[in-house]
Amino acid sequence: MKSYNLMYNGKSSVIMYSRSKQIYTGYFILAFFISACLFIPLSSNADTTQAAINNESVLPGLRLEPIQLLLKPTDLNPLIVSLGEKLFHDPVLGRDNDMACVSCHNLTTNGANHLAHTPGRNGFKLDVNTPTVFNSSLNHHQFWDGRAASLEEQINFVVHNDREFATNWPTIIKKFKSNPAYTDAFNRLYSDGLTADNIRNAIATFERSLITVNSRFDRYLLGETSAINKQEQNGYGLFKKYGCATCHQGSNAGGNLFMKIGLFGDYISERGNPTVADLGRYNITGKKRDRYVFRVPGLRLAALTPPYFHDGSIETLEEAVKVMAKHQLGRHIADQDINDIVAFLQTLPGEYKNQALVRPQQVLKESGKP
Ligand code: HEC
Ligand code: HEC
Repeated sequence: MKSYNLMYNGKSSVIMYSRSKQIYTGYFILAFFISACLFIPLSSNADTTQAAINNESVLPGLRLEPIQLLLKPTDLNPLIVSLGEKLFHDPVLGRDNDMACVSCHNLTTNGANHLAHTPGRNGFKLDVNTPTVFNSSLNHHQFWDGRAASLEEQINFVVHNDREFATNWPTIIKKFKSNPAYTDAFNRLYSDGLTADNIRNAIATFERSLITVNSRFDRYLLGETSAINKQEQNGYGLFKKYGCATCHQGSNAGGNLFMKIGLFGDYISERGNPTVADLGRYNITGKKRDRYVFRVPGLRLAALTPPYFHDGSIETLEEAVKVMAKHQLGRHIADQDINDIVAFLQTLPGEYKNQALVRPQQVLKESGKP
């Protein structure tokens, strides 16, 4: 592991991450294209994105873009997706049968909620902001500190967390065994029937289906130049020019690097009231260089999922971009440019089940109940 010099706009800064992560990202993008190329001729999916990507003429330009298209996975068993969807909404998983995944990741509020710290079991607030489950399958690790390497592993943390499901797998299996609908469904779909592995697999398979395709930005990438307006195009140019894309890249506009918050100045002490959770990846690795290091979040739904950052301390996207300019790039960005970048970020959310995702009009009052 080496620290690594990153150059943007003539400024150089030592970034706390390994060279191998950077190489990994290169492979990630390369692997994405190889798999995209292999998969295009086989695809029979009729949706707009898929149809458009079949048009090879758009590919050469697209290949150079730091932000890539979102593509719906075509290899998910729809029966497992729908079983996983049921489980995601079922409070029986929780210790007191009163909490489901959807309690905190409401899909009608874009897979997240509007609270800085969601109250968990018995009203105890969670240490960090709730990220969206949409597009989370694209992240190379799960959680702000990246402590889960897969969606399946992430579910174990929820099951055992005292402020979340506060239970264990044998108890969940016992409860499920008394429900013939679940036992039948698992027997039909899995050769070994109802097991913890298969419950995790079903929920994770559902989560893999939560890809927000057909955004205006993706249509723009595919050559529909009028899909985003001049200001939004300018915003995308600025996002690349200022260096946002060095950290926020790939199809989820992030999610594939670990980075320190506060490369310039001290974000945490300027905010005040430091917490253990602020130490980020250090809490997992115990290595000094991992203090304040977080997995870079994907920005696909950022426009729809305030508040921002691991601490949920920032309410508006404008303010979040200003914090990024100051603490990640060490510069001031003029308001007009901030507005253009925000306009660009608003073109990134796409559709789920053929419906455009939108910012809910009303901030939902969280009851902690599904
Ligand atoms: C009580 C609220 C709550 C419940 C219930 C809950 N989550 Fe979460 N979820 C969170 C919070 C808070 C985080 C961020 C925790 C962290 O990063 O340390 C999170 C993180 C995640 C992530 C990681 C996303 C990313 O970008 O890193 C996924 C995926 C996820 N949850 C899925 C689920 C699933 C599946 C369930 C049900 C089995 C579930 N959650 C139940 C609050 C909740
Ligand atoms: C050096 C890497 C790096 C650069 C450059 C960078 N970011 Fe970030 N970004 C991060 C990290 C890490 C976080 C999470 C920080 C935290 O939660 O404490 C983040 C968080 C965000 C968030 C909040 C997302 C959420 O869901 O909470 C937004 C919005 C954002 N960045 C936009 C930008 C923009 C716009 C730029 C360019 C002006 C930029 N970033 C430049 C690493 C970077």
